[in-house]
Amino acid sequence: MDTYKIYGGNTICGDIDIQGSKNAVLPLMAAALINRGTTILHNCPNISDVKNMAGILECFGCEIQYGNGDMVIDASGVSSGAVPAQMIKRVRASVLVMGAMIARTGCIELDYPGGCMIGARPVDYHIGALRQLGVDITENDGKICCRCDKMKGADIKLLFPSVGATENAVLAACGAEGITTIYNAAREPEVEELCEMLMDMGASIFGAGTSQITIIGKKEYHDVEHTVLSDRIAAGTYICAGIITGGRVCCLMNKPDILAGMTNLFKDMGCTVRYGNDYYEVKGGGRIRAIKYIETKPFPGFPTDMQSQFVSVLSKARGTSVIVENIFEARFQIAGELQKLGADISIDGNRAVIHGVEKLLGAKVRARELRGGAALIIAGLGAEGETVVEDKGYIRRGYVDVIDVLKKLGGNICCE
Ligand code: EPZ
Repeated sequence: MDTYKIYGGNTICGDIDIQGSKNAVLPLMAAALINRGTTILHNCPNISDVKNMAGILECFGCEIQYGNGDMVIDASGVSSGAVPAQMIKRVRASVLVMGAMIARTGCIELDYPGGCMIGARPVDYHIGALRQLGVDITENDGKICCRCDKMKGADIKLLFPSVGATENAVLAACGAEGITTIYNAAREPEVEELCEMLMDMGASIFGAGTSQITIIGKKEYHDVEHTVLSDRIAAGTYICAGIITGGRVCCLMNKPDILAGMTNLFKDMGCTVRYGNDYYEVKGGGRIRAIKYIETKPFPGFPTDMQSQFVSVLSKARGTSVIVENIFEARFQIAGELQKLGADISIDGNRAVIHGVEKLLGAKVRARELRGGAALIIAGLGAEGETVVEDKGYIRRGYVDVIDVLKKLGGNICCE
């Protein structure tokens, strides 16, 4: 158990080098499986999800060197292998080895993936997409068994622009004969980056970043060296820490325009926003304004992964805010914890009504998942007195050295 102790009241202020994106690096690691050679990734975040994903790849025969943000994945010796269930269950993105291994070896058997308990998180869209490519998939006693001698390109129509299902379909389609088109594909920057790296590995992909992606399957892929996209959710999280304390946070990052979906919301709160080619800065100041209505949507809409952080920030706003969560069915778990700090939040189904209060008072709270845990730290920074966040390792799954980062920005925080 990690116990974070936060003493609120300090202003969070300064520049921060934003870590590589968790949700970008994990699919890129899966993509390394389809190349019978070496994939080099730079700007890899040092987080537990990456370590766990590396362990999974090693079970298939990959040799991995990893340090100082660089990862070298030698997948020349990959063969079908078995991955212990508890390894698969630690990371939601473990499900992406399904598409990559079918493209590489034509078969894989794995347990259902894990990930934050923010909803049921089924994988039916993933399975449906692979079946469209001709993969024979059976599900029994908690295992997914996939086999396919020769995948054939197909039209895949996703019921929902699922990030993971889009990524799995793209990875599998790279090994299919002929043309695959994915309709209603996810447009998240992390999906676009996966396609970009696959193209650098020799894939023929059209429409990356749009809701219609076409892939022409190939037999062979080649080595690639790639720098991972900055983590837009980590950036947004630290920006929220600045806002709730009346500070200014400047995120040094690549492609800052991926934060564009939040710019108007920061401005609606009364913050000033500046950004350029390699930075994105938000300056708070004084008590922020409430936001009448926000709803989470697939990219380019307001990201569900920023919802909890906004609930924390708006808990201290002037006025009443409403946030509707459209992506996951159980992503307001922090409401009860924030109420222990004095927040006035009521939850009705997928709608949170937040009546801003002048002050939050430190208390003992519990993290129940990754982004909610980060949101509780934000609330603690904006509260008076001491807040203790008990966390079973969720926060370190997605944030690199969160204590060091916040201390550097002026936060009074430690972890035992
Ligand atoms: C990815 O999860 C991210 N994780 C999540 O980030 C993110 O919240 C999510 O995309 C949405 O942007 C990674 O990239 C590792 P989905 P994923 O498939 O792929 C339902 C974080 O905090 N669904 O787009 O699992 C699903 O239950 C994490 O960094 C099905 O019903 O998300 C959800 O309600 C949390 N069947 C919705 O679709 C399926 O087969 C969106 O899920 C797949 C998904």
